Amino acid sequence: MAAIGRAATPAEVKAWDIDVRAHFKGLPPGAGPVAQGQDVWEARCASCHGVFGESNEVFTQLIGGMTKDDIAAGRVASLTATGVPHRTTLMKLSKVSTLWDYIHRAMPWDAPKSLTVNEV
Ligand code: HEC
Repeated sequence: MAAIGRAATPAEVKAWDIDVRAHFKGLPPGAGPVAQGQDVWEARCASCHGVFGESNEVFTQLIGGMTKDDIAAGRVASLTATGVPHRTTLMKLSKVSTLWDYIHRAMPWDAPKSLTVNEV
């Protein structure tokens, strides 16, 4: 059998190994104040998702449709409803680490992977 391919180099593996799992396994060190997050959001996210994540123009709302009763029950009652807001991102997530991972690899939509760890 002919030898095909080669083992990936450590640098190649490192470049692909960016997943952040449940309970933040794989999360790189970083931090940032809320005010910086607001600046990043307004500059890089709000044009598509709205100032409060409420926009339904480019993609369905990220925020909304959840109540304190849902949090107490551990289940979002409006997930089965057919009205607006539809299934928002925060309704679907069981772990905030998933949100971090998604934003880190996929957003902003027009320039994915352009945010620093602290900006994410
Ligand atoms: C140019 C428009 C645009 C910009 C700017 C943008 N997004 Fe998005 N965003 C989208 C679109 C379109 C989707 C759906 C992508 C898909 O499903 O493939 C999405 C999806 C998402 C989701 C996941 C929604 C879900 O339920 O699956 C999150 C979270 C999100 N964006 C956060 C952000 C954040 C944070 C920023 C800024 C750093 C940002 N987005 C900037 C267009 C944009």
